[in-house]
Amino acid sequence: MKKYKMASLFAGIGGIDYGFEQAGAEPIWANEIDKYCAVTFNANHKKIKLVIDDISNIKGCDIPKIDILSAGFPCQPFSIAGYRKGFEDDRGNMFHQIMRLVDEMETYNNKPRVLFLENVKNLKTHDNGHTFEVIKSELEKRKYIVKEKILNTCEYGNVPQNRERIFIVCFLNLKDSENFNWKNIPKIQLTNTIDNVIDWNAEVSKKYLYEEDKKCYKLLKENITAHNTIYQFRRVYVRANKNNICPTLTANMGMGGHNVPLILDNKNRIRKLLPRECLLLQGFPKEMIIPSELCDSRVYKQAGNAVSVPVIKRVAKEIINAMQETDLKNANN
Ligand SMILES: C[S@@+](CC[C@H](N)C(=O)[O-])C[C@H]1O[C@@H](n2cnc3c(N)ncnc32)[C@H](O)[C@@H]1O
Repeated sequence: MKKYKMASLFAGIGGIDYGFEQAGAEPIWANEIDKYCAVTFNANHKKIKLVIDDISNIKGCDIPKIDILSAGFPCQPFSIAGYRKGFEDDRGNMFHQIMRLVDEMETYNNKPRVLFLENVKNLKTHDNGHTFEVIKSELEKRKYIVKEKILNTCEYGNVPQNRERIFIVCFLNLKDSENFNWKNIPKIQLTNTIDNVIDWNAEVSKKYLYEEDKKCYKLLKENITAHNTIYQFRRVYVRANKNNICPTLTANMGMGGHNVPLILDNKNRIRKLLPRECLLLQGFPKEMIIPSELCDSRVYKQAGNAVSVPVIKRVAKEIINAMQETDLKNANN
């Protein structure tokens, strides 16, 4: 079967690329502005050409012939925790950059057959739904058929993280859109526990530990009492996450302070999740390379900004099946 070629905008460390590759597509080109993301991306995606630049400098003719274009575009303007400004915020214009590129690609006979967009779930309700209406109408103006759904990583990816994201799948071809059905991506049982991800006996560097010399130690000691639980420290209180799952990992883990979730290890030491554990809680491969030249804060940020790879893989598989079904029927006619 034909391998569909794919390009990624806002590629980060390539979570979407991993998902599509695992589903059988061939990621060939990507763009990302952040040079530290690029270090991780290049260490792990050797076959993909990454262009490190601001998207506003990318032209439609720069993107090679592809079938699928993905974009997990910056989500701050749309998140509750963010600025709530939507398109008024400069970063909100990133969606318009995607549309500009689609238009330019069309003039080069390279209009993507499928667009795959990912964002925070609040994109749907932001500004009373107006933001999403604008997005949908811009896509429809370009003749895309839009199918969106909010999926939680712990329900759809068999990864123990509570992470709800909106996935917007857009088809240029009516047949592809009819073949694609969210019902073919049902919820699955969560069998992958935090024990599979966290090494409760790990000998870790002191920098990950909260010891008696820390101001907050007393508060943490009183509240962090159970093993098998992931905790969040929020200035004056500590929250235990029930059901043995990890809270949503966010980019602010990279801002230092107490933003990285905490655990009580088997030696009763309170410690931060390790950067590697955060990547595993996003479903990145165990063998993924974390470049040694990057400091932890960069990797935490990259993990929080990324996607849950197994969720992407499932959606990508359904997209690819839909495209193949169309192509097979066309070949037989
Ligand atoms: C939500 S993250 C996407 C992460 C990605 N899906 C992954 O799996 O790692 C958004 C990315 O867009 C990048 N970005 C922000 N502004 C950009 C711009 N103007 N041009 C290109 N990339 C940009 C950020 O550096 C960030 O890596």
